[in-house]
Amino acid sequence: MCGIIGIVSKDGFSVKNTLLKSLKRLEYRGYDSSGYVTGDGELSKRTGEIDPLIASINESTTTKVAISHSRWATHGGVTKTNAHPHFNTDKTIFAVHNGILENFQELKTTLTKKGYKFISETDTEVIPHYFDDQLKQGNDMHQAIKNFMSDVRGTFAILLIKKDDNQIYAIKRDSPLVLGLAENKFILASDIYAFSDETNKAIFFEDNEYALISEDKYEFFNVNGKPITKKIMEFEWTREDETMEHYPHYMIKEIKEQPSSSLRLINSFETIQNNKLNKLADLMKNTKRIVFLACGTSYHASLIGSILLSDLGIYTRSIIASEADSFVKYDEKTLCIAISQSGETMDVVSQLKKAKKAGAKIASLVNVPFSTIQRLSDVSIEILAGQEVCVAATKTFTNQVIVMLELAKRLGYKIDLKQIPKKIQQTIAINEDKVKEMSIKLSKKRDIFVLGKGMSYPMAREIALKLKEIDYIHAEGMMAGELKHGTIALIDKDVPVISLIPNGNEEMISATQEVKARGAWIIKISNVEGKGDLIVPKCDEAEFAIYSGIVGHLMSYHIGVILKREIDKPRNLAKSVTVK
Ligand code: F6R
Repeated sequence: MCGIIGIVSKDGFSVKNTLLKSLKRLEYRGYDSSGYVTGDGELSKRTGEIDPLIASINESTTTKVAISHSRWATHGGVTKTNAHPHFNTDKTIFAVHNGILENFQELKTTLTKKGYKFISETDTEVIPHYFDDQLKQGNDMHQAIKNFMSDVRGTFAILLIKKDDNQIYAIKRDSPLVLGLAENKFILASDIYAFSDETNKAIFFEDNEYALISEDKYEFFNVNGKPITKKIMEFEWTREDETMEHYPHYMIKEIKEQPSSSLRLINSFETIQNNKLNKLADLMKNTKRIVFLACGTSYHASLIGSILLSDLGIYTRSIIASEADSFVKYDEKTLCIAISQSGETMDVVSQLKKAKKAGAKIASLVNVPFSTIQRLSDVSIEILAGQEVCVAATKTFTNQVIVMLELAKRLGYKIDLKQIPKKIQQTIAINEDKVKEMSIKLSKKRDIFVLGKGMSYPMAREIALKLKEIDYIHAEGMMAGELKHGTIALIDKDVPVISLIPNGNEEMISATQEVKARGAWIIKISNVEGKGDLIVPKCDEAEFAIYSGIVGHLMSYHIGVILKREIDKPRNLAKSVTVK
């Protein structure tokens, strides 16, 4: 959450076409407000998306140093004053920050007593005042940073500049930060996507490290201020065409990309990812306990994995990472498998750190190479979906499920994955027009229920999640069997109930009858010709999860179009959730 960018270049660069172009690539991390400041103190910020900020800048504005920020609000409302960068009173120190300073109130009180005046409600504003105070006490920046790291509790990726100083100080604990080494500039960013069009060479910050980036060099230091040598990593990034092409939204583009993104992944199983998959399958066979850790849509993919593995007699649990403290105690006999598109989700990262400390083995399925979760892993499978720009996960979910299927296959599950891309194509072709038509009526509904059982239960949750986040319609994804234990009281005439019925599942048919008897409007998704309102290709129950998911994603998309929702950037959300 929150995207930060800092650029230093001895040749100078355009604020509009370079700095904010990179920031725009991180907009999916938060879009409540944005702002930048150049090395000579030219500052601008606005609430809302980045485009108006970009439009407000003259082409000819160039600088050698600048930092910028795209905000997902935590402390303090969405206002211009709360937008980053924040600064000290005489506007000589500026900071942008991703993370949360837990003890900011304490620090603010101390600084206020010393006469510092705060104008925003943010935790971040403490940073420029803190450094102002440190410098006034006679400390140099190295000492000030060391003091900061010891005085502050919380998470942070911070970029800090001093006016007319031509360098950036970058400090990191828990929140992601990476330095891109481009042709004629250094680019500090929250993730590699910010500069993946300019370079594939990067240095990843580890916790409690800081760096000093100047026009012609970068230097890294540990928490004690000791210089450290860092490895330059060369990443590969599966790049789909990053424009929307002829599509009106990234969401529909990404849904329709799936025949190719799934094929790319499936092809990697016997080639570049074969050894890693064997290693993970071996770990899974030989461990006492498997715990999947994930959030949101990735959690739904993990549930499918859990069901597949449990069916093979491999004891597995899927836990929502933010609640894992209540459910798991890690030890050296545990294998944690994190599933995360971004590879940065803080709830997952913090559990993995605990698990690692307790001696557990760590594996992961991620989309973003070299992400924190991948770097914490003993083995990591890439889902190779390519950049997903829409905040809601679609193609990455499908590829997560496909990896689950491949792992299950290596452990004894029978499935022909090669057919999947073609069947995805068919699913979209057969259903899109019907879905569009249904969406007109669905868009007028206040509540939608989605029922599933077994492997289709995670899909009921997934479809409901998309109806909530894209369309802002209240939706519940339920275990069909649970309905009669209370929720059925909400079923009334014309309440839409989407029923996921793979292979004529009898219990699903009975549950569907029960709601139909109460007058509900039933939409059956089935893989048996003639047995549903929306039909996906013939397949087993696990594959049904993929195709029914695509139908559900199409549905939430088309409802969103009718309701004129902010489809790619739904309100209050961010794609990379790097705070707890
Ligand atoms: C929903 C969605 C979120 C993410 C969740 C986890 O469409 O995208 O629920 O799945 O925030 O994110 P990752 O997978 O990056 O860990």
